[in-house]
Amino acid sequence: IKTQVGIIGAGPAGLTLAHWLKRNGISSVILELRSREYVEGRVRAGLLEQNTVDIMNDLGLADRLKKEGIEHDGVNLSFDSERVHIPFAELTGGRKITIYGQQEVVKDMTDAWLDADEELYFEAGASEIVDFDTKNPKIHFKHAGEDGILECDFVAACDGFHGVGRKTMPKDNYRSYDITYPFSWLGILANVAPSTDELIYAYHENGFALHSLRSETVSRLYVQVPNGESPDDWSDDRIWSELSTRLATPGFELKAGPIFDKSITPMRSHMIDNLSSGRLFLAGDAAHIVPPTGGKGLNLAIADVKHLVDGLVSFYKHNSTDDLDNYTQMALRRIWRAQDFSNFMTTLFHKQEEHGSYNYKLQKAKFDYLKMSKASRTTIAENYVGLPFETYE
Ligand code: FAD
Ligand code: DHB
Repeated sequence: IKTQVGIIGAGPAGLTLAHWLKRNGISSVILELRSREYVEGRVRAGLLEQNTVDIMNDLGLADRLKKEGIEHDGVNLSFDSERVHIPFAELTGGRKITIYGQQEVVKDMTDAWLDADEELYFEAGASEIVDFDTKNPKIHFKHAGEDGILECDFVAACDGFHGVGRKTMPKDNYRSYDITYPFSWLGILANVAPSTDELIYAYHENGFALHSLRSETVSRLYVQVPNGESPDDWSDDRIWSELSTRLATPGFELKAGPIFDKSITPMRSHMIDNLSSGRLFLAGDAAHIVPPTGGKGLNLAIADVKHLVDGLVSFYKHNSTDDLDNYTQMALRRIWRAQDFSNFMTTLFHKQEEHGSYNYKLQKAKFDYLKMSKASRTTIAENYVGLPFETYE
């Protein structure tokens, strides 16, 4: 198979890249390791920044998102049962977030791609990327038991944390950074109306809790659990009881309902400081992982793609490699901002040391500062909704 851009991975990064290149008359083929059912059923994030929604809209991929996505003008932050509301519109000049499940984004983009008779191979795992230091890189893959080769001008590795892209990067051309947090999230989806209109992030002496939602009838919630736990350790009763303890504030009542999905996500940060080598480019989770507190992972993946599209369009339309050469620099500024914000939200709201310790007092001081200072609330608001692209230029 031959194409201009060979894309590995049909997650949010790979699919957005494919659509955006097509819009600019650049061809691509996507290889995806997993089956369509698996990818579309994988429950993950749900918080879309303003930038992400704007991009989906511009690409003509937001019909269902506009109908079913739920716009939020603010977020609730809670600490030891006390709550502060952060109103985005007022603090960021009208920017907001939209709640819409990642797997719905992936479904919409996959449908649109296949409806346009574009090429996407499921159960086609890339095994090796070769010749990326030449003008004719090749991706070796296996599909339906047969070996295949995708020949292209550029390789975009949008293949997530465990993909082949990052493993292929020459070890001496980047530095990597890793943090493993000593806790994980147990996430659930439940058939019950959300008990809140806007999200609630809560510190409690038992640990962190987050109340999010998917629709008027489906709630999404998370609790901090020790590393190494299994969802089987957590009965439905135990989950609801822990959530209602941790989310309690005066006048708030958590409604429980049947849980239909339970999964554990480890919390880590991972970074490499170079996103390309020759004609191989990494985007999204392939290049960086942030802990999920604050919902940045998916949005960061889409932002990387914006910069990569700029580079590829300059190459094909203006015969210039300047923007491709600048890709890492452009993307890294936002990635480090998100690393910092995700780390800030994680360390502010998770239980890390004994309740009442010095570290706890610092967390509490940061929370109290939110009550006192509009500047502090604005810092949270502008990072949470995502800074506009112009800010980084
Ligand atoms: P991915 O969505 O991981 O897509 C990569 C794709 O590449 C996958 O479909 C994979 O199957 C495919 N692939 C891998 N290897 C190969 C190969 N060799 N050949 C072909 N294809 C390959 N973020 C939040 O903001 N909030 C959350 O609550 C949240 N929860 C998460 C829970 C889990 C379990 C995980 C793993 C992530 C979570 N994230 C969350 C992060 C967010 O979902 C990711 O940042 C987002 O999926 C990144 O998109 P991506 O396209 O870069 O990578
Ligand atoms: C969701 C996930 C997050 O990590 C977050 O910070 C907010 C919302 C969600 O899945 O809805």
